[in-house]
Amino acid sequence: MTATPDPRKQFVRQVLNQAQTLGLSQPAEGEADAPVNIALCKYWGKRDPVLNLPVNSSLSISLPGFGTTTRLLWRPDSDVTGLQRLTLNGTPISPEDPVFQRLAAFLALFPAADQGRFDIDTHNQVPTAAGLASSASGFAALVKVMNQAFGWELSQEKCSLLARLGSGSASRSLYDGFAIWHQGLRADGLDSYATALPQVWPSLCVGLVEVDTSQKSIGSTAGMQQTVSDCDLYQAWPKQAQKALSTLQLALETQDFATLGKTAEHNALSMHATMIATWPPILYWQPQSVAAMQTVWQLRADGVGVYFTMDAGPNLKLLFEEQDRPAVEQAFGNLTILRPFARA
Ligand code: PMV
Repeated sequence: MTATPDPRKQFVRQVLNQAQTLGLSQPAEGEADAPVNIALCKYWGKRDPVLNLPVNSSLSISLPGFGTTTRLLWRPDSDVTGLQRLTLNGTPISPEDPVFQRLAAFLALFPAADQGRFDIDTHNQVPTAAGLASSASGFAALVKVMNQAFGWELSQEKCSLLARLGSGSASRSLYDGFAIWHQGLRADGLDSYATALPQVWPSLCVGLVEVDTSQKSIGSTAGMQQTVSDCDLYQAWPKQAQKALSTLQLALETQDFATLGKTAEHNALSMHATMIATWPPILYWQPQSVAAMQTVWQLRADGVGVYFTMDAGPNLKLLFEEQDRPAVEQAFGNLTILRPFARA
């Protein structure tokens, strides 16, 4: 009996092409990092859950200096293969841990996992007050370090294709600054990757409002699957996202902050509306999330240019410019503020 080939393994082979045969007889090692990113136009819904193909394109801003640094050692001269050792911020992770298993399953898609052992040390510099997903920076850093260690010399687009298989939003974490993950049209997923946008926005600030950073009740993959299959309002989502994406691109080109903020906030609320309108309902908000939204709306009524976005969790990410920082800090008190282009 022949086993059905895993479409993800086939995808990886297609992306690697002849690069996969290089460097597999010698030990390989390297280190790479990748930033976390925040979507201003969200990815919500998969048209192919196996290949992680999205229903809609999305647009993000990366937070350089906050993300994941990963060291990899791969050895072919070993009687064991695949992921053997994983440390996270210096602590060994047990093979029974879901984090270990998710990473091992991802690495198993690569030919190198059948031919040698992987030892991986990974460090997250994601602020605890964040509610920022480290899976995006984690998979992007892992693909970057493999590309480097194995001498694949893949383009950033190809690395983005591979990172996408680990976590959809990881496709955007290959880049600093703004990035678009193009949904693509092909069934084989080879045209669904992110590219960088040229615009910079030196005065842009992102404020992290911590409401609750504990484990969420439903993860993004399960949440989106449930929304796609059980929410009648979801039909409206791809259209909303398409419109938001074009508006955001224009706002970036014209450096129109009010349009950028408004569009990002509206898009996030539209995504949450589809979650709430699913059955059983998915509501990530907590009373403090709503209170923070109301503070944002009051600040805007008082003339402060501040907007928010939210992912699959109760925390808010505020968007504002440097000139409004004092007013925002005063209203929110304890706020972690990041400057995506501080080094630009
Ligand atoms: O990449 P995933 O599978 O963790 O999904 C991310 C989903 C959102 O964070 C809610 C939106 C986005 O585009 O990042």
